[in-house]
Amino acid sequence: MKAVAVIPGKPNSIHLREVPTPTLADVPDGRGVLVRVLRVGVDGTDREINAAEYGAPPPGADYLILGHESLGRVEAVGPKVRELAPGDYVVASVRRPGSSLYDRIGLQDMTTDDTYLERGINLLHGFLAEYYVDAAEFLVRVPERLGAVGVLLEPTTVAEKAIAQAWEIQRRLRVWRPRRAAVLGTGTLGLLASLLLRLRGLEVVALGRATPPFLNSRLLEEIGVRYLSTRAVTLAQASAEHGPFDLILEGTGFSPLVFEAMEVLGKNGVLAMLSVTGGDRRVEIPADRINQGFVLGNKVAFGSVNASREEFERGVQDLSQAELAYPGWLGKLLTHPVRGLESYAELMRTLTEGAGAIKVFCEVAPW
Ligand code: BGC
Ligand code: ZN
Repeated sequence: MKAVAVIPGKPNSIHLREVPTPTLADVPDGRGVLVRVLRVGVDGTDREINAAEYGAPPPGADYLILGHESLGRVEAVGPKVRELAPGDYVVASVRRPGSSLYDRIGLQDMTTDDTYLERGINLLHGFLAEYYVDAAEFLVRVPERLGAVGVLLEPTTVAEKAIAQAWEIQRRLRVWRPRRAAVLGTGTLGLLASLLLRLRGLEVVALGRATPPFLNSRLLEEIGVRYLSTRAVTLAQASAEHGPFDLILEGTGFSPLVFEAMEVLGKNGVLAMLSVTGGDRRVEIPADRINQGFVLGNKVAFGSVNASREEFERGVQDLSQAELAYPGWLGKLLTHPVRGLESYAELMRTLTEGAGAIKVFCEVAPW
C-alpha cells in the first residue's frame, strides 16, 4: 500500500513510499482491527518531524509513516473483537503503553517512562497511509452523524485532557466555580479549547497575534468568545479588563507567555501549559512577584500532553454537543483539504505556508 513517510533526522524528507499492507495478524490474541484511512489531519508536530526537529522511526526502520490525527472506517476485525464491526467509523488514539504503572492502567498519556510511544510521532508508524491495523482498545467509535469532522477528535482530546485535569486539580477547592477563562493561541487547539470551555458555560477570552477581523476571530465570536489581539493589548491589560481568569490555557508554542500567564492568573486559579517547545529559549522573569502571587494566591500551574481513552470518549460527546449548540461550526475549521496521499508535498506546503489555514488535512479516501 501507499504511505507518506519521512526519514527522521533528515530535514524535508517527506515522500510517498510503498510499504507492506498491515494485516489483522499483526495484533496478537485476535484483537486486531483493520481500518481504511479516510482523513488525516496535520499540525505543528508533523511540521517539526518533517523539519527533523522531532520524532523517531520504529526500531529497525529508517523511515516513519507520518500522521496522528485520523478518521477511518473499519474493514475487518479479529475474532476476539466485539466492540467494533466493519463499517464503523473510528479514530485511533496516539500513544501506546510502555511499562510504567500509569501505562499499565491505560494512562500512557501520563507515562513516567523515559521514552514514549506515539503513532506517527515517536517509534511507531502513523496513519497517513491507505490502511492501518491496531488493537481494538486503542480505537474509539465515532457516530456517522458526526461525519467528516471526526478528524478533529484527536486535537480535541488534547484540550479535553487539559480541561479535565484542571477540574480534577481544582477539587482541592471544594467549591470551585470558574467563571472566566483565557485561551492563549487561536489555532486549531485554541479554537477547540475555547469551544469546550463555552460548552461548559465559561466566559472565554482568546488571545492571538493577528489583528481582527479574520476567520479565526470571527469563528470565536460565533461561539460567544471575545477575541483580543496581543498587538493591541497585553495579557495584563486583558486580565485587568476581562479577568481575573480562573483558568488559563497556554497553547501558542511561545514559552515566555507561560510566565506572563502566571503573573495574571487569578487567585485560586489554574494554568495549563500545552505547548511542546523544542527550543532552548531563555527569558528574564519577575521571579519574586510570580512566586509571591502563587503563594499568596494559592495558584497552580501544570503541564498536559496527549490524552487517554476517556478523553477520546468525552471528545466524541463534546463534538456531538457542539454540532447541536453551534451547527456547522466545526466543519468551518476544516479549511484546507488536500486530496490523495500523492499530494504529500502540497500537504506539507499548505501546512507551512497556507495563509488562513486552520486545519490542513489529507483526504486519503472519499468520505
Ligand atoms: C499530538 C499529541 C502528542 C504530542 C507530543 C501532539 O501534536 O497531538 O498526541 O502527545 O504532539 O508528541
Ligand atoms: Zn498533534
